[in-house]
Amino acid sequence: MKKLSRRAFLSDSFLAAAALSAFGAASKPMKARAQENRISPNEKLGVMIFGCGGRGSDHVLEYLQDERVQIIYACDPDPSQAARIADAVQQQTQVRPKEVRDMREVLDDGNLDIVSCASPNHWHALCGVWAMQAGKDVYIEKPICHNVFEGQALIAAARKYGRCCQVGSQCRSNPAIQEAFQYAAEGNLGEIRLARGLCYKRRRSIGALGAYPVPEGVDYDLWSGPAPIVDPMTRPRFHYDWHWQRLYGNGDLGNQGPHQTDIARSFLFETEFPSSVISYGGRLGYQTERQDDSYIDAGDTANTEVSIYNYRDGKTLVFETRGLETDPLNQADIGVIVYGTEGYMLQLSYGFVMVLDRDGNEVRQFSGGDDYLHFRNFVDCVAARTPEKLNADARIGLLSAGLSHLGNISYYLGEKNYVSPEEAGKIVADLPGNDDNIATLGRTLDHLSANGVDLAKTPLSMGAELRFDPEKELFIDNSEANKMLTREYRDGYVVPAPEQV
Ligand SMILES: NC(=O)c1ccc[n+]([C@@H]2O[C@H](COP(=O)([O-])OP(=O)(O)OC[C@H]3O[C@@H](n4cnc5c(N)ncnc54)[C@H](O)[C@@H]3O)[C@@H](O)[C@H]2O)c1
Repeated sequence: MKKLSRRAFLSDSFLAAAALSAFGAASKPMKARAQENRISPNEKLGVMIFGCGGRGSDHVLEYLQDERVQIIYACDPDPSQAARIADAVQQQTQVRPKEVRDMREVLDDGNLDIVSCASPNHWHALCGVWAMQAGKDVYIEKPICHNVFEGQALIAAARKYGRCCQVGSQCRSNPAIQEAFQYAAEGNLGEIRLARGLCYKRRRSIGALGAYPVPEGVDYDLWSGPAPIVDPMTRPRFHYDWHWQRLYGNGDLGNQGPHQTDIARSFLFETEFPSSVISYGGRLGYQTERQDDSYIDAGDTANTEVSIYNYRDGKTLVFETRGLETDPLNQADIGVIVYGTEGYMLQLSYGFVMVLDRDGNEVRQFSGGDDYLHFRNFVDCVAARTPEKLNADARIGLLSAGLSHLGNISYYLGEKNYVSPEEAGKIVADLPGNDDNIATLGRTLDHLSANGVDLAKTPLSMGAELRFDPEKELFIDNSEANKMLTREYRDGYVVPAPEQV
């Protein structure tokens, strides 16, 4: 739940009116919370906001509600981003955080206790590992890692240095979802063998693939960090749109996905990786959107992707990503559907869950959600030195982000394996749980057709069908896929292997 929009938080008019409006009159819960935790300034936990973009400003809003912490650094290789956060914090607290470009400059500051990472995905693991090596606790946005190997390194670092490493899967602290989970765990939905995660968020083209200058003032070497330097950039907009370029982001399967894969996985009671995966889809529909067949969108992640995961116990998790327009009658753009033998559970937002019986009648509802609860759980654990009480530790982060990574690896390996709808139908018919798989393919094809996608011109890609060993956390007999569980790191930005953290 957001109390203020990011835009409002960062805008000048908001800053000018801050004392009067939201953080004043409307902040009673915040003040009440602060009083519960009254602490003298020199005992406060010092926080660095690492990544001062949209989500970084959300982090600021959450930490400002907790008197046990003080934001002392705003870190960003784009100085204008760090300055915005520093301005906003100063307005609220009268104390200006120090602006830094490179976290390494200040990691030996004993007043710095927490690094709160809201950078692009390709930086999450390195930020977390460096911070924990320096004795700091870390809150890391989802997906906790850009690839599977990085998540393993974070788990190892948290263990080795005894640090709190919370992933930003705030649903893990939301009452609606946790109470619904308890309800399912008590057997009220019967046996659950299938859960479906949905991300039906409209994502427009990010502009034509081309050569674009990096904005002035940005330390682009640092921004690129563990990824190769691509200069000039190939996307028009510098911030945010990296989500749709695989060197930095993980598409919507790895952006929105980790929230819903985490919920779907928890309702299947799975605590390990799946044993097989296949994805199909493509980056489709942007050519027709511009009425120009020669147009190539700068993104290289799928905007339409269905990923099917099977677990060793025979359960199935399906994740559907749709970036094109979806039926307006469909109320939810994100969600999870859990299929039990006694009923269904629908997660329709971060703070609302509905239970239906087998005939579709509503049985009950669960509501209540607030991102602050997740940050509070993190600060509680940091203050009490109880990493075991984190609601979403690095292992939870890896398992849920890992689903996105495995799904994307299947898709990337089959990216050039174009299939007709009939061929796709034959392939999915042979997968386990084929009734549902055929129905899902049918709905996906209808969706593409409704968006004017001509599959004869821009066909569907059928990803590789991959087997995975959940104990070794490696693909079985597939060196090409295993290579994609990690990446080649640039000198100076190498994420160490788990045994070397
Ligand atoms: N939990 C949630 O609900 C939620 C919501 C939105 C975003 N997110 C996550 O937050 C992260 C950030 O997303 P965003 O939308 O704010 O992106 P953004 O592009 O708007 O902001 C990212 C910021 O990080 C900065 N950055 C890049 N390299 C850095 C480095 N080495 N050190 C410090 N800063 C660096 C960039 O310059 C930019 O200012 C993503 O991983 C995203 O998945 C989570």
